Amino acid sequence: MMKKTVKDIDIKNRKVIVRCDFNVPQDKNGSITDDIRIRSSLPTIRYLIDHGAKVILMSHLGRPEGEADMKYTLKPVADRLSELLGKSVLFISAPEVVNGKVIKAAEELTSGDVMLLENVRFRREETKNGANFSKELAALAEIFVNDAFGTAHRAHSSTAGIAEYLPAVSGFLIENEVKFLGNAVESPERPFMAILGGAKVGDKIPVIENLMNKVDTFMIGGGMAYTFLKAKGYEIGKSILDKEKVGLAGELMKKAEEKGVKLLLPVDIIAAKEFSNDSERAEFDCGSIPQEWMGLDIGPKTAGLFREEIMKSGTVIWNGPMGVFEMPNYAKGTIKIAEALADSNAVTIIGGGDSAAAVEQFGMAGKMTHISTGGGASLEYLEGRELPGIAVLQDKESCGGDK
Ligand code: 3PG
Repeated sequence: MMKKTVKDIDIKNRKVIVRCDFNVPQDKNGSITDDIRIRSSLPTIRYLIDHGAKVILMSHLGRPEGEADMKYTLKPVADRLSELLGKSVLFISAPEVVNGKVIKAAEELTSGDVMLLENVRFRREETKNGANFSKELAALAEIFVNDAFGTAHRAHSSTAGIAEYLPAVSGFLIENEVKFLGNAVESPERPFMAILGGAKVGDKIPVIENLMNKVDTFMIGGGMAYTFLKAKGYEIGKSILDKEKVGLAGELMKKAEEKGVKLLLPVDIIAAKEFSNDSERAEFDCGSIPQEWMGLDIGPKTAGLFREEIMKSGTVIWNGPMGVFEMPNYAKGTIKIAEALADSNAVTIIGGGDSAAAVEQFGMAGKMTHISTGGGASLEYLEGRELPGIAVLQDKESCGGDK
C-alpha cells in the first residue's frame, strides 16, 4: 500500500519533526567520511523549508546505548547539513535530547527554520520504543515525517512509537526506496536476477527464500557461497563455512531446481593460505580447493560467467560483495560484477551496506539505477518483511487525516 508523503498534507507554518538516518561513518577525529545519507535526506528537508514548515530533525548515530557519549554527538552532522543547505541549522546538544531549552527553541522556530536534536540514542528508551520518550518527541511538533529508510527496520521511539501521537507520513527518501525496491521485486523487467554475497549465509537465506518465487536466476558469491559448495559435496579447504546451514543450502538448491530457477555458484576462486592481503595466493577450480587454502574471492571464470548472465538480465538486485573487497588482492571479483552492472542495460538495484560501499569506492555509483541507503533495512525489505518505521505511516487511500 502506498504511503502518504509530505506532499499529501498541509505543512505551512506547522512544526514538522523528521526522522532521518544520519548514521554516517566518521574517522578517528569525528570527521564525516561519507555524507551520502545526509545528502539523500536533502530533498525532503528542502521541500519542507520551501513550503514554509518549521523543521525539527532527529537521528541516531552509532550505538551509544543510552549514554550521552559525546563521541556520538550529532554536532558534525549539524555542521555538514548547514553547509549543504546553505543555511544555519540550530543544534542544541542536550544529553536528554529533549529538555526545557530544546522545547523553547522548537516553540520559537519560524517558518523555514531548521533545528537538529541531539542523538536520540542518548536516551535509553529510544531503542526500547519507550512511550514516554515518543511522547516527548511528539510534543515538539504537529506532524511526524519518517525519512530514515536505513532505520525503518527498527521499532524505536523516534521511528515508530512517535507515530502513535502525531499524524505520520513518509519523506521522499523512503518513498523512493520503496518505489525502487518494491518495483524491482514485484514487477521486474525480466529476466530478473538476484546476486547475493557477503560472508554470512544465515543473513541471506531468508532473502533467497522470499525471492525464490520471484527471480529467474540467483548468483551466489562471497563467503556464503562456500556453504552452498559444501552442500554440493565439494571440498572447500579452510574457506568460511556455516556448518549448521549446509542442509538448508542443499534444500534451497533443490527447491530452485524444482522451480526452474537457475542458481549459479562460483566455478573457480582466488584462494589464500592466510586471511591477509599479502598471503600467498592461487586460483583453483571449485571442487579442487586444497585443504590448507581458503577462498577469498570469486575467480576470473566465475566473474565472466556472472557477467554474461548480468548482460542478459532485465533487472538485477545485488546484495553482498563477491569477496573480501576491502583487501585489494581480493577485490577483483566484486569490481568485475560492479562493472558488469554498470555496463548492462538492466535496472540495477544495489542493496545498501557493503555492496553500496563497494560501488561507491569503485566510482560506479552514478551508473546504477538505485543504491539503497539501508543495509539491514533493504535486506529485511527483500526478505518480504514489513518494516515497522514504514508500517506506522498513513496509507495514501486512507482519508483518515490526523490520528
Ligand atoms: C544502519 O546503519 O544500518 C542504520 O543506521 C541502523 O543502525 P543500527 O543497526 O545501529 O540500528
